[in-house]
Amino acid sequence: MIDLGRNYMCGITGYTGINQAGPILLEGLRRLEYRGYDSAGIAIQSESKKDEAGENGGDNTSCTLKMLKATGKVSHLADKFEAEPDFKGVCGIGHTRWATHGVPSDTNAHPHLSADGKFAVVHNGIIENFADIRAELQKYGIEFKSETDTEVIVQLLAYNYKGNFKKALMKTIARLTGSYAIGVISDEHPGTIFAAKQASPLIIGIGIGENYFASDITALVSNTKNVIDLDDGEVAEITPDEVKVFDHTGKEIDKEIRHINWDIASAEKSGYEHFMMKEIMEQPHALKATIEPRVKDETIVFDEIKGLDMKKFNRVHITACGSAYHAGCVGRAIIESLCKIQVEAEVASELRYRDPVMDEKTLVIVISQSGETADTIAAMKECKYKGATVLAIVNVVGSSIAKLADYCIYTWAGPEIAVATTKGYTTQVALLAMFAVWAAGELKTISHGAYTSMVIDIMHLPERAQRALDLNTKVKKMADKYYDNQSLFFIGRNMDYAVALEGSLKLKEISYLHSEAYAAGELKHGTIALIEPGRLVVALCCYEKLFEKTVSNIQQVKARGAEVLAVAHEGNRSIFQEADDVLLVPQTDPLLVPVIEIIPLQLFAYYVAKKNGCDIDKPKNLAKSVTVE
Ligand code: F6R
Repeated sequence: MIDLGRNYMCGITGYTGINQAGPILLEGLRRLEYRGYDSAGIAIQSESKKDEAGENGGDNTSCTLKMLKATGKVSHLADKFEAEPDFKGVCGIGHTRWATHGVPSDTNAHPHLSADGKFAVVHNGIIENFADIRAELQKYGIEFKSETDTEVIVQLLAYNYKGNFKKALMKTIARLTGSYAIGVISDEHPGTIFAAKQASPLIIGIGIGENYFASDITALVSNTKNVIDLDDGEVAEITPDEVKVFDHTGKEIDKEIRHINWDIASAEKSGYEHFMMKEIMEQPHALKATIEPRVKDETIVFDEIKGLDMKKFNRVHITACGSAYHAGCVGRAIIESLCKIQVEAEVASELRYRDPVMDEKTLVIVISQSGETADTIAAMKECKYKGATVLAIVNVVGSSIAKLADYCIYTWAGPEIAVATTKGYTTQVALLAMFAVWAAGELKTISHGAYTSMVIDIMHLPERAQRALDLNTKVKKMADKYYDNQSLFFIGRNMDYAVALEGSLKLKEISYLHSEAYAAGELKHGTIALIEPGRLVVALCCYEKLFEKTVSNIQQVKARGAEVLAVAHEGNRSIFQEADDVLLVPQTDPLLVPVIEIIPLQLFAYYVAKKNGCDIDKPKNLAKSVTVE
């Protein structure tokens, strides 16, 4: 599996120099707000005091670590800072947190302090073996305050510390598995920050008499444009006058200083023009974050739903809105196929008023990126009232839906800023597929061979998503050719139809072109009357069992003058005889096709909208979180 890391959650920053760190850290955190977060915090080394014993690795002064944290906006943190005139110091670290382990709260917000108060840490990433380390340290009597995976880093560091900061940190990170970008300060080493990185981003900013670190250039760009990119396994010792970088053995290495010339707006989007494109490109990372922590030895493990007894249910009802509903349509097909249980999928705005027949033998799956969609919340309340068990698939940790559900599985896609969902949708589908395989294992409706083969295919999704992105460099050309079609159709059968629904929605919501998704076989029952010369039909042809059937629908629309843009698997030669243009995606298990097949359609929608001059990240009339009915 490719190593992509989880690099979009949380933001970290640090400063050491001659100026007050507080305002610089807060400014850095404001610049990182775009990444999405639910709480924030800073820690500084306040006023140095004389270290009489002189035991501190060469330093003869020490200081006290002070922290400020706030749930919610960085502006709340700034208010707290303003109210604390004594919060002064010239070296510190800061963090914006997007909750993954533990709800958003002041206690779970970073920085985290070691129990002895000697070290403070900020961390971006996931420590996968945190439970083992935590249990081990608890045996030594170390008390933990938060529910986070991060706290183990700082407690282990304090445990390993015998006077040499660097040695203790190297020993600590050698124990960690997962991903991290961390910044650490100590009360015994004034002016020094240590930073380390593994599969999460971290750059060091070089100033004059002051140095910085941050998750990305955005937090630094107003202070310096000279940066060092820390690589995986490296550790940096940052002081006001010097930055030393060490490899994983502790040997000092030379690093190049890179000059950047991005402005703040392009830095926020990692150089992309729009958040939507950034998020489309992040999908391999997001899928990896969703999938990888839940696969152990080719077995799907959902720690979150321990106690959910699938044998209790005689049917499953999926409900959601918009793209999340489209993910649910895919989920219905996968769960039905693997679990041999009756599954329905329905939009939440209908279900909530329909007086549905359900009881305690019904499992309701609600899907929501934001976890705050009003219709979805109302529908889930109705289902709970009828006795159903509710399992939520949600991206935003601690959101209303996550709290109201009986069980919740997080997609861990990272914050989604563009209004049109992309990585939110693909991670929902991936999670539904994982749930279906897990449930089929519980119900014994899947053979060992089929189970393993599905798990392997699921694990390959991140690299196949990357391949789908790499293969589709010519989508822009297609958009240039077709952008002025005022009305078009997306057609497909089975899984392809589910993807057609989402591809069509993506296009209409950001480009404002009229578009409809049709089950390919249904077209001839009326809608074919609208096919005329020049009309664009996007034909989804990845569900190979029904490929020949879809081809006959392509021929029917072509006979009436339509132009056809097909999406098909690499290696499918015959599609080139049928369609005017073809976009290719890599092969995968037929049940997983939607995760990959949607990618060229997201790109198509993006480029068509761009060509039409639309406001891609904030389409008119739409909101990211639909909290009204
Ligand atoms: C489309 C889109 C919407 C959402 C829908 C549900 O790109 O983003 O259709 O999918 O409003 O939102 P969540 O998933 O937050 O419940």
